[in-house]
Amino acid sequence: MPDIKDIRNMVPAVQQTAYLNTGTCGPMPRVAYEAIKAELEKELTPARIDADHFPAIGEARNGVREIVAAAINADPSEIAITHRTTEGMYIAIMGYRWQAGDEIILSNIEHPGGMLPSFLAKRRFGVRVRVADIGLGGGNPADIVKAFEEKITPRTKMIVLSHVSYTTGAKLPLKEITQMAHAHGVLMVVDAAQSFGSMQLDMQDLGVDFYACPGQKWACGPEGTGSLYVKSSSIGEIEQNFAGGMTMGTMDYYGGSYAPAAGAARFDTAGANVGQTVGQKVSTKWVTQDVGLDWIEDRIGKLAKQTHEKLSKLKGVEVVTPKEPLSGLIAFTVEGIEPPDLNTRLAQEHNVTIRYVTKYINNPDAARVSLGFYNNEDDIEKFIDGIKKIQKSL
Ligand SMILES: Cc1ncc(COP(=O)(O)O)c(C=O)c1O
Repeated sequence: MPDIKDIRNMVPAVQQTAYLNTGTCGPMPRVAYEAIKAELEKELTPARIDADHFPAIGEARNGVREIVAAAINADPSEIAITHRTTEGMYIAIMGYRWQAGDEIILSNIEHPGGMLPSFLAKRRFGVRVRVADIGLGGGNPADIVKAFEEKITPRTKMIVLSHVSYTTGAKLPLKEITQMAHAHGVLMVVDAAQSFGSMQLDMQDLGVDFYACPGQKWACGPEGTGSLYVKSSSIGEIEQNFAGGMTMGTMDYYGGSYAPAAGAARFDTAGANVGQTVGQKVSTKWVTQDVGLDWIEDRIGKLAKQTHEKLSKLKGVEVVTPKEPLSGLIAFTVEGIEPPDLNTRLAQEHNVTIRYVTKYINNPDAARVSLGFYNNEDDIEKFIDGIKKIQKSL
């Protein structure tokens, strides 16, 4: 079983503050830092310009494909390398062959990462965007599935949603929504910003078509890294937005045509920065294999439950996040202080790092904590104590 002291030593940043914001950006482990440094060192040597330079790029990308695929029970040929979650969402949404009047369904608690490419598809192709209101994302899973199903029409092509909502922290019944969507011939484009690296994931079981993952959040990789799972049978559903020498298979110059590279690698938009890509590979491996997603999911679940209970007991605090099914994110409000002010005061007066999220439709403006696997009880105590002291001063 992993030792929490070893884990915290591996991510030194979390020893300097009670860091409760992995949902924005995870702390980098030493192993990834060392791997990036070693790659950077090569930039100063002939390795930067030797014959192995280009093959090294392909190797680094394939290394990420293998580790990400293993973490979500997919095949490496189903993984594209991207710069971030949002880019994966763009690849799937903007790659679809839209006709004016086609429809996308969003939930009411999406992040701009899925919302904006959908709105852009409306501007560019005349796609109609419909919103399924699932409240805060908790309650009976069958009601959530129904809310999406009620919005489906013969023109619906895609449901675009987050596996875990970044505003409320609710984990959605993805498998059930996917089964319903597929029964209507609708594709599932999923934003995995708050799920990848924080829980065990099985693409075979979930059945989704596209799953856009960050490298820098729960997988603790460098900024500017991500990946996109494309189910092998759904690859033909979208076209490349970006075709280049590295994402091309064969071509016919006179015919003005080409065939894309095999598998999801045709959708690669990143990975040429070898240091960053190797850092992504090493941090993702450390999180998903060395620490282990089973242990991580269990630990995050326990820490989140504890935090949810402690927050719920505080007078003047309202917990926004539904208790079931809980992820690592908890949104809450404190009477008498706006979330941005609470955020600032916790940081400045108590050395506790959280963030706040804004109201879109019916989720409230709220403060949000993320419980990472490296957090400990002390972090939670500092956070709860900080809120109590701030409350007293109001
Ligand atoms: C649900 C969700 N989607 C997308 C993003 C954006 O992620 P990225 O910067 O990897 O595109 C975030 C970041 O907070 C998020 O929470």
